[in-house]
Amino acid sequence: MFSCNSYKSEFVEIDTIATHRNGMEFVSMQECIACHKDIVESHMKTSHYKTSFKTDATAFDEMLKTLSNEINLDDGTKIVIKKEGNTLFQDFYVVGNQTPVYHTPMDITIGSGFRGQSFLYWNEEGLFQNQASVFGTMEGWINSPGYASQINNTREVVPRCMECHSSYAAPLESSSNRISNTYDIENVVLGIDCQRCHGEVKEHVLFHKKNPDIKDGQHILKYSELTQQQRIDACALCHSGFRQPAWDPLERKFIPSFSYQVGDELNDYLVNNNSRARNNQEPEIHANQIKLLMDSKCFIMSENMDCATCHDPHAQERGDFQNFSLKCISCHQSQNHTEKTLRLTNANFEDCTSCHMPFVDSQAMKIDLNLNELTPVKIRNHLISIYPQEINLH
Ligand code: HEC
Ligand code: HEC
Ligand code: HEC
Ligand code: HEC
Ligand code: HEC
Ligand code: HEC
Ligand code: HEC
Repeated sequence: MFSCNSYKSEFVEIDTIATHRNGMEFVSMQECIACHKDIVESHMKTSHYKTSFKTDATAFDEMLKTLSNEINLDDGTKIVIKKEGNTLFQDFYVVGNQTPVYHTPMDITIGSGFRGQSFLYWNEEGLFQNQASVFGTMEGWINSPGYASQINNTREVVPRCMECHSSYAAPLESSSNRISNTYDIENVVLGIDCQRCHGEVKEHVLFHKKNPDIKDGQHILKYSELTQQQRIDACALCHSGFRQPAWDPLERKFIPSFSYQVGDELNDYLVNNNSRARNNQEPEIHANQIKLLMDSKCFIMSENMDCATCHDPHAQERGDFQNFSLKCISCHQSQNHTEKTLRLTNANFEDCTSCHMPFVDSQAMKIDLNLNELTPVKIRNHLISIYPQEINLH
């Protein structure tokens, strides 16, 4: 349903909210509502859209009231989380010192809040990760995964982190080949929005505003015209584990983050030269769904499978097992389950994933819940297969 007739005017202006280093102009997602209202509304509920935003201090009021807001590290340092005005801070007290050695704001939240949220702060143009993170859906404060239990509040946030968790964050050129954590603050777009997956849209918007009668999308990249590999690469940018930047022999430097655009060949920009990641059969939170899926018989023996075979990229679908099972059944109209399998009393055959894509413990992401032990995060295995019964039903 289009309601674009009010845009007949010859003069249609749209504001640019940021400009990519390559010249691409970002427009606000509001610009899409006139013609794609349903998709915009649905997208705003996704983890993608909510994966980074300016921290909303009021969202923590309840947590600050009801839970302990201190973390005691093994080196004696105490981190205290508190709210001043409309800003959250992390204060660091070292042994024998009454005044905090750090008083750092929590400017940006990373994570939609399913498994947890991390926080970033600006120090001039430098972007750093706060040491304390939130575990789960506001279940408590923890020392950020990967940090030793000692004071370390100046972890640099490299562009690759933002490349996966935002639409854009313009890295500042560094003179050496060192990867810098400085950004042009005027050119940061938080949340993963339409343009992260659909590329340049300004011309598209201008064209359709001027030509409301044309119903075929113009000046826009079309997924239906991409190859299977191009479509998979569009997701692999962020879902194929920790790739390294590729080396550009002409410029004699590493290709900077945010260079890859949908349609490009990802390996030209980011390489999986980490042998552990490349051969990795273990699913990880930071995450290698691609490799695992591509090793599955479903992928190997069907023709055009990609991530969108099962996932609607604009919808929040977590927990909707019936929807996912329908995708399985669309290819597996009948299943040859043995009598033994069918007799399993606690099995739910409406949820194919409970047995064929079971949860596994992450090896890379473990969380220290102040219990002196690391609790692994559970993740969904994209190696679709037949698993022994013991690990299935829980
Ligand atoms: C004035 C109307 C209008 C506006 C505003 C508009 N579009 Fe479109 N768009 C269309 C029309 C018409 C089509 C073709 C029909 C369809 O696929 O929905 C289209 C199609 C698309 C497609 C599908 C391309 C394909 O065939 O695969 C994408 C992606 C898209 N638009 C993205 C956007 C984004 C992102 C915005 C906001 C920045 C936007 N559009 C704003 C009119 C508009
Ligand atoms: C720019 C990086 C990026 C791209 C591109 C990307 N994702 Fe994601 N995706 C993420 C991040 C980050 C999360 C975790 C968001 C969170 O919970 O904070 C995520 C989460 C998800 C989830 C879990 C959703 C949930 O409810 O928790 C699914 C499913 C998913 N992505 C599928 C896809 C598919 C399919 C594509 C390709 C069409 C894709 N992603 C492209 C970064 C990306
Ligand atoms: C290679 C891309 C990539 C990089 C780099 C990356 N992440 Fe992620 N991150 C993801 C994806 C994808 C998910 C969701 C995984 C899933 O649901 O399986 C995720 C999940 C998370 C979550 C949990 C979100 C939630 O609500 O469940 C947090 C917090 C997080 N990342 C923080 C960070 C921080 C901080 C950095 C950088 C210092 C970083 N990540 C670097 C892709 C990435
Ligand atoms: C995570 C990546 C991702 C994001 C973010 C995203 N899209 Fe898409 N979009 C896709 C993919 C992939 C397809 C092709 C789906 C398929 O092949 O079934 C698509 C298809 C479309 C289409 C055409 C088919 C349809 O569903 O009507 C439109 C229109 C569209 N997107 C608009 C948008 C708009 C508007 C936004 C922002 C509100 C947006 N998309 C955000 C990945 C994304
Ligand atoms: C695009 C079609 C398609 C979809 C969608 C699909 N599969 Fe498959 N799957 C196949 C094909 C083709 C094979 C290999 C031939 C066969 O065993 O039927 C296969 C094989 C399997 C196998 C046997 C694996 C083995 O190692 O022997 C299982 C189990 C399976 N699929 C479960 C699922 C589940 C569960 C889903 C949904 C989460 C699913 N499939 C979605 C096409 C698909
Ligand atoms: C055969 C169906 C199927 C295909 C194809 C598929 N997924 Fe999934 N995916 C699922 C199911 C089922 C879940 C579990 C959803 C839930 O827990 O609600 C899931 C969950 C996820 C999650 C959340 C992970 C977690 O641990 O909670 C991410 C991220 C994801 N998929 C990304 C991808 C990407 C990227 C691709 C393409 C390489 C892809 N998926 C292809 C079925 C599929
Ligand atoms: C209780 C666990 C369980 C559930 C739930 C389950 N499966 Fe299976 N599935 C198995 C086991 C175990 C096998 C191996 C054969 C056997 O021992 O029954 C199997 C075999 C298969 C196969 C390979 C054999 C064949 O038919 O070619 C496919 C495909 C399959 N399942 C699809 C599905 C789909 C689709 C669903 C959801 C509608 C589903 N399964 C639900 C446990 C399960």
